[in-house]
Amino acid sequence: MTEQAGPVRVPRGLAGVSVSDTRISKSSSDGSLVYRGYPIAELAAKATFEETAYLVLNGKLPTRGELDSFAATLAGLSGVDGKVFEVMRALGPGAHPIDAIRTGVSALGSIDPARSSPGRQHSIESKMSALAANSRRVPAGEEPRRPGEGRGFAESLLQMLTAREATEFERWVFERVLIFYMEHDMNASTFTVRVVASTLADPYAAASAGLASLKGPLHGGANEAAMEMLLQVKSPGDAKDFVDSTVKQGKKLMGFGHRVYKEFDPRARLCKQYLREMAERRGGDGGIYGVCEAVEGEMWERKRIPPNLDYYAAPIFYLLGIEVPLYTPVFAASRVFGWMAHYNEQVEENKLIRPDSTYIGPTGLTYRPIGERQR
Ligand code: COA
Repeated sequence: MTEQAGPVRVPRGLAGVSVSDTRISKSSSDGSLVYRGYPIAELAAKATFEETAYLVLNGKLPTRGELDSFAATLAGLSGVDGKVFEVMRALGPGAHPIDAIRTGVSALGSIDPARSSPGRQHSIESKMSALAANSRRVPAGEEPRRPGEGRGFAESLLQMLTAREATEFERWVFERVLIFYMEHDMNASTFTVRVVASTLADPYAAASAGLASLKGPLHGGANEAAMEMLLQVKSPGDAKDFVDSTVKQGKKLMGFGHRVYKEFDPRARLCKQYLREMAERRGGDGGIYGVCEAVEGEMWERKRIPPNLDYYAAPIFYLLGIEVPLYTPVFAASRVFGWMAHYNEQVEENKLIRPDSTYIGPTGLTYRPIGERQR
């Protein structure tokens, strides 16, 4: 009889393990990131959000006709039924915004008129914006803000979030940040989405699972945590003490570190440039850029750990006037496009994702009735 091989052991957290082939995107330790073969800096410099979303979903840049039709489809599906907002409102003012969106997406899975149509994924992608922008307002009993007509995806989302007219440059920057948040190969929420997709559950179920995974501060919640941290550092001169005492307490600095990027995160570098230009154009930023740069310098000096996208996206959102608890919802409004691309890729070449584990608990115990058990 041949000896049965045990399960393959993989590093904790699946670090460095490739769990799937993908054609969608790739981040690499040398600081490069490509979406469907296009370097991120190229897309950031030249593409719109809708073009990039089409690329991520379809694997090629759209023609003018394809782009117009895609943008019109998204705009046409963007309205959220009042019943979905009622479900979110029932959660009450204490609801966490991500819980509110997740509840909204779950409700959509039952009542979205598009749920049985081939366009249901575009319905989720499009409606996620209004769910995100209203994820605090609606549970708090306020009226939902609706997507504005005649505005592009990014502009409409920003308008719903802030209820103010942003400058052209601010809109441009916000759109770049959304492009960066759209897709990032096998991150935790995308992996979650692929696990759910592999069971052949519907995309509403997959998106709500993605949202659950995004909530934590080690993933999507990091942009809010980074902003709360930055607000504690009053001036660049306080950065050294702040970094020292956080590290000494064994705590992590939010917005630093990455599973893949060890030298630099290309998205953070670009966002840093945008933040500096925003501060210059405004003629002042309350000192945020200086604090960011000082904390980054101290962290590199001390730990050789670079900032990630969340670190520089957060102060951009702050200057745009977006409330801090809405930062992770903004991430979700964009990442849903990447999730849907991965959902489709998983289903097209499906194999149920069902790993094994190594049991290290006790064995051979004998059941005793409850009255005979010792504490
Ligand atoms: N602050 C302080 N130290 C950090 C750190 C941070 N933000 N990120 C990593 N480190 C340290 C760890 O303490 C660990 O040190 P050790 O080897 O002395 O124990 C080492 O760097 C490796 O970190 P680890 O958490 O094991 O790496 P990872 O690849 O599992 O984690 C993250 C990646 C993103 C989870 C991690 O960097 C982190 O928690 N960052 C803060 C949250 C964040 O910004 N998340 C958004 C990611 S895009």
